[in-house]
Amino acid sequence: MKILAVESSCDETAVAVVEDGRRILADCIASQVALHREYGGVVPEIASRKHIEAIYALADDALRTAGITRSQIDAVAVTYAPGLIGAVLVGVNFAKAAAMALDVPLIPVHHIRGHIAANYLAFPDLEPPFLCLVVSGGHSMIVDVEDYTAFKILGSTRDDAAGECFDKVARLLGMPYPGGAALDKMAADGDERKYPMPHTKLSGDPLDMSFSGLKTATINLIHNAQQKGEALDIPSLCASFSLAVSDILIPRVEQALVLTGRKKLAVAGGVAANSRIRADLERCASELGVACYMPPLKLCGDNGAMIGAQAYYEYLAGNLAGQDLNAFATMPIDG
Ligand code: KG4
Ligand code: ZN
Repeated sequence: MKILAVESSCDETAVAVVEDGRRILADCIASQVALHREYGGVVPEIASRKHIEAIYALADDALRTAGITRSQIDAVAVTYAPGLIGAVLVGVNFAKAAAMALDVPLIPVHHIRGHIAANYLAFPDLEPPFLCLVVSGGHSMIVDVEDYTAFKILGSTRDDAAGECFDKVARLLGMPYPGGAALDKMAADGDERKYPMPHTKLSGDPLDMSFSGLKTATINLIHNAQQKGEALDIPSLCASFSLAVSDILIPRVEQALVLTGRKKLAVAGGVAANSRIRADLERCASELGVACYMPPLKLCGDNGAMIGAQAYYEYLAGNLAGQDLNAFATMPIDG
């Protein structure tokens, strides 16, 4: 089954063709990152306008790359939540029109379910159940993937997402948006013990996490140094910050693995590209005798293929939409 999959929830317009949820026939992306960079973050209206300009040509591109014609498309899938509402609406509207014109089913896909499904593309043998750490620009959560369309959130951030903190700290250090990858690169030459970071204690659910205290502490450290005219060791600050984020995530993943007894751990989302986090997850999994699945960096960030992968399983579960499908800015993954 060949699915044309559309993703437009943030600042990447993406259209892919995926076969049977596992094989990428085309994965086309038009990134707007350079455009938003001069504003230091995504400007929602600009994102929507750029999606509408790019999406039609990108779909044509995806068909050409896949080497198929429109009549060979069996279904159209689209991210319908969560995301920047104007941006998601562009993809939803396009997908509805495409499904109607081709007279094929329309499959609504939750963006975070899509991120998790990127693992099915990277690892064709991976099947639920497994545990997944989802860390993106907008989300941080530990999810028990009980089945392809059955999810349980075991813990999530109470405030900022991990990616938001990476981007905010990177921005203060003068790195262009989104700074997570640049900060990661810079950290490679640093001493991660040079700037000890505070550890926020949370009451309540032990698998919940908080990043705002760490973010504020890092911002204060940078501002204080600037006010006193002290030189900061930027690589070491980046390394110390990355270690602190990892120190929030890893113990909770470890606890979730022990709690659920799952023998497979996957990661998803843009922050899953972080080298410190990847190394620590691998170590944690190997200590517990758990298999660790980490998609290549290209599949960690937003893309259309991940939506096509999840769409296949939504289709098998009978989760289809009509022409009255709407877009939603927020939506629980287990809703
Ligand atoms: O999943 P994603 O592409 O978009 C969302 O759905 O949010 O994640 C983007 C986030 C950004 O905050 C970006 O800075 C972060 O992922 N990111 C990284 C790295 N690469 C991307 N954060 C830390 N280290 C990286 N290597
Ligand atoms: Zn995303």
